[in-house]
Amino acid sequence: MIRTVNLKKTYAGFEALQGIDLEVGEGDLFGFIGPNGAGKTTTIRILTTLLEPTAGEAFVGGLSVWENKQEIRGLIGYMPDSFGVYRDMTVTEYMHFFAAAYGIPHRERGSLVGGLLELTDLTYKENALIESLSRGMQQRLGLARTLVHDPKVLILDEPASGLDPRARIEIREILRELTTMGKTILLSSHILSELSEVCNRVGILERGQLVAQGSIDEIMGMARSDTEVWLHTTDDARAAVVLRELSCVRSTEVDEGRKQVLVHVDPDADLGAVSDHLHGRDIRLRYLERQDPTLEEVFMKLTKGLVQ
Ligand SMILES: Nc1ncnc2c1ncn2[C@@H]1O[C@H](COP(=O)(O)OP(=O)(O)OP(=O)(O)O)[C@@H](O)[C@H]1O
Ligand SMILES: [Mg+2]
Repeated sequence: MIRTVNLKKTYAGFEALQGIDLEVGEGDLFGFIGPNGAGKTTTIRILTTLLEPTAGEAFVGGLSVWENKQEIRGLIGYMPDSFGVYRDMTVTEYMHFFAAAYGIPHRERGSLVGGLLELTDLTYKENALIESLSRGMQQRLGLARTLVHDPKVLILDEPASGLDPRARIEIREILRELTTMGKTILLSSHILSELSEVCNRVGILERGQLVAQGSIDEIMGMARSDTEVWLHTTDDARAAVVLRELSCVRSTEVDEGRKQVLVHVDPDADLGAVSDHLHGRDIRLRYLERQDPTLEEVFMKLTKGLVQ
């Protein structure tokens, strides 16, 4: 649904995008991750036809950002990273204003606006002035606005920035609901753990380069060289020795303080075999926990080579 080919953007000699190949499938909830200045907003502004690339191609719904600007604008709903100031408008007036701007017939606007305010849980604020809304409510209103023309693709630049944990969860739930309605969503963020819960695919951008993209599992797999397993048994010291007999075990270490054994195993190791092996030596397993790296750790690992 969204595709870029060797996309480049140079600002006055500075290469903000160094040839990125992004691929977002229909129905994806795609997380575009990167630290400050990585080039997320630049990419998003190109996809939304607000900025011309320096070189390369970008397609939304098969349409080129070079040739089909108007068609792309009809296809997408875009939420920029900062919310415009509309001081003296109420929530309902604001929504009607955008419905009119998108050419929605007058008689349809009432029910459309009502439905969108319900979806974003703002019905109880319909007569409130926008300036009286909290930041989280303003973000939800911004989202409601992007949905006015029923776009197939939503492009959201940091929709959860500045929100408290509860408001983040609310936005996340709305996004999930929107994907079940068949929308394709690309959202940017630098909060990685947040995306891992809601997105089915992510792309990691670092200094204008896409260092990885794929499902969360694929990304995790790329960075995982071994897996940490913590276990506690009826005889930890002996367990640490006998486990080294298994080919999938790379190292073991008894942690006296935690009264546990730290075992490094191959990423695809069968943990059932670990348990069986101990059992065969009359050591009972009391506890076993596999510790997968967090998305932050994966991110640090994948971007390490590029950080100077
Ligand atoms: N109009 C501009 N003129 C010159 N340089 C720019 C311009 N816009 C962005 N840049 C530079 O391009 C790089 C990428 O910026 P961009 O805003 O795309 O990053 P971002 O990933 O959205 O960052 P953030 O997380 O801070 O929003 C930065 O180094 C920035 O300074
Ligand atoms: Mg940005």
